[in-house]
Amino acid sequence: MPYVVLLGPPGSGKGTQAGALAQALGALHLSTGDLFRENLSQGTELGQLAKSYMDRGAYVPDDVTVAMVFDRLRKPDAANGAVLDGFPRTLPQAEALDRGLAERGAQVDRAILLNVPDEELIRRLSGRWLCRVCGTPYNLTSSPPKQPGICDRDGGVLYQRDDDKPEVVRTRLEVYRDQTLPLVEYYRRQGKLVEVNGAGDIATIQRHLVAAATEAAAR
Ligand code: AP5
Ligand code: ZN
Repeated sequence: MPYVVLLGPPGSGKGTQAGALAQALGALHLSTGDLFRENLSQGTELGQLAKSYMDRGAYVPDDVTVAMVFDRLRKPDAANGAVLDGFPRTLPQAEALDRGLAERGAQVDRAILLNVPDEELIRRLSGRWLCRVCGTPYNLTSSPPKQPGICDRDGGVLYQRDDDKPEVVRTRLEVYRDQTLPLVEYYRRQGKLVEVNGAGDIATIQRHLVAAATEAAAR
């Protein structure tokens, strides 16, 4: 039952890589950003609450986020572990995850940090388009869809996220530095941190991620 935490700043490629990594491990891909956006598109109260934070580039409160994650981890398709994409993002979330996993006789096996320079992050987020149907991220410069505005996989319409506006991106990078970077030390102290170069081609990064995660799962 591997539990792998995927850490990295906005635009580092967590969403691009996490699905295939989860598939390689036979685990669930759990993205808190995607769960909030799903709630929003379904018009739930949680979605409305999350939007009021996401639109500003701020984090959704820890208690709300932790409760949503454990609700999801209790579902049957989470029985074989999970790749946690964008969670935890604060020390209280990391501590809550450790406690919750310990209760089920599990633990975080690996925390993988995707390193990407700031200029590249800003460039990536300003060119990002996502599929409304399957969520696949495209990029106008690095990985454009075959047909403009249309998903290669399912023909879904592509859209840009409200929080990818330049002023919100700046806030998201600051919030990441203040609140999430301390987690790098948290996992390093536990001997669980692996750093992967997140700049370069998507397939090479995927190979490095799978190697880092499967080696941990086999221990
Ligand atoms: P979330 O949706 O998780 O956003 P994020 O962490 O800011 O990360 P992004 O989705 O922007 O980037 P990514 O790393 O997934 O990169 P991607 O693969 O798309 O969270 C959004 C908001 O929800 C937060 O701001 C917060 O409000 C709230 N939230 C979520 N989790 C929370 C939590 N735990 N606690 C509290 N609040 C929470 O790639 C980006 C672009 O780059 C794409 O265009 C892609 O095609 C391109 N790209 C990817 N890889 C490469 C490559 N190797 N080379 C070139 N281009 C590439
Ligand atoms: Zn699609």
